[in-house]
Amino acid sequence: MIPGLGADAGAEREARLLSRVVDTISAGLDLDRILQGVATLVTETTDTDVCFVHLLDERARTLQLRGATPPFDTMVGSIELAVGEGVAGWVADHGEPAVIVDDKTADPRYRYIPALRGEDFTSMVSVPVLTPLGHLVGVLNVHTRERREFSQADVDLLRSVAGLVAGAIENARLHRRLADREEALERFAERMVEWQEQERRRLAHEIHDGISQRIVSLFFHLSAAADAIPANPTVAADQVARAQELAAAALDETRSAIAGLRPPVLDDLGLAASLDSLAHSFPTLDVRVEAAELRMAEHAETAVYRTAQEALQNVAKHADAQSVRLRLSRHRDRVVLEVADDGAGFDTAAPSAGGPGGPGPTGFGLAGMRERAELLGGQLDLAAAPGRGTTVRLTIPFLPAAQSAG
Ligand SMILES: Nc1ncnc2c1ncn2[C@@H]1O[C@H](COP(=O)(O)OP(=O)(O)O)[C@@H](O)[C@H]1O
Ligand SMILES: [Mg+2]
Repeated sequence: MIPGLGADAGAEREARLLSRVVDTISAGLDLDRILQGVATLVTETTDTDVCFVHLLDERARTLQLRGATPPFDTMVGSIELAVGEGVAGWVADHGEPAVIVDDKTADPRYRYIPALRGEDFTSMVSVPVLTPLGHLVGVLNVHTRERREFSQADVDLLRSVAGLVAGAIENARLHRRLADREEALERFAERMVEWQEQERRRLAHEIHDGISQRIVSLFFHLSAAADAIPANPTVAADQVARAQELAAAALDETRSAIAGLRPPVLDDLGLAASLDSLAHSFPTLDVRVEAAELRMAEHAETAVYRTAQEALQNVAKHADAQSVRLRLSRHRDRVVLEVADDGAGFDTAAPSAGGPGGPGPTGFGLAGMRERAELLGGQLDLAAAPGRGTTVRLTIPFLPAAQSAG
């Protein structure tokens, strides 16, 4: 409850605060602006002096300051605490609020951060920002200059505000993820068009210089054989034999031109066996394959296959490896493809490492793999260091194959 007010006036003011928080949250999807606005609202309506909103980075297990009232708004983005560190870190770790009325330096949970000028403030409340399902997304703190006995009602109100903020944070993250996907899709489409052009040029070249040249010669040998049949059957037989060789060579070339176009084995053999046969198609590599039998949606299987293909091509081209391990496995709703070599490794921070430096001449390289992964709602992780081998890990959601009607 807010001090100095009767129960009714307090309740009314609380309702107003919550409804203004809802307004601020629904105003847009720019999370930083929302958090800034919420921080200001909270201090105004709870009669506190500063408010900090820290967001949880789940992977790094850190809290990052993302909303703060002036003058601390300039610190947004530059303050980071580990989960477990400081009062906010303790709250994140335990999922329950902390109230400190005075002498916070005596509290073992407290950690002094010079930039946040803790010495200027006496009392504080810190509450976890939890989604309705109890998922922690951050921590919200308020501080007062004067000493203040925060009541249970004060804490409850802050928890309600935090609950609304949690919804906004989730929405904003969802929105961000969608926007990222859309961007990945655009980049991928662009690259796909380029790649298609390149494939067409390659095919045209192979057909023109290889296959059609052979068919032309084949035609001449057959004509010569036809002419020679009555007078000189030995020459005719020789011409026919040459023609047979040419036909075989043309057939080989046709096969290899087509093989580059799509992985036809996928439909026939399934993913696991296709990966096995892919691994055997690299004669210079010693590849150990452990592939789980999975049937997934066609485009997901193609993505896995292409990623394995490009990763193995990279090993063959760049790694100088003794051995390679290719593993495909399913972990509940995720599928993981891992290609690990014990070769030269490389510096993943270098611009050629599939970053914004762009793809290699295959048009598909590491950047292409990453885009494909993002497009499927997954990710590509690279672990590599000079001299210590390379591991490429593709993680995508498991997309079951559509049930066939027959
Ligand atoms: N398995 C690997 N071992 C060593 N270096 C690698 C490996 N995979 C990728 N690289 C490095 O990363 C770079 C980028 O790879 P990629 O995007 O596939 O382009 P490209 O293979 O066409 O050069 C390569 O040029 C190489 O230097
Ligand atoms: Mg490559």
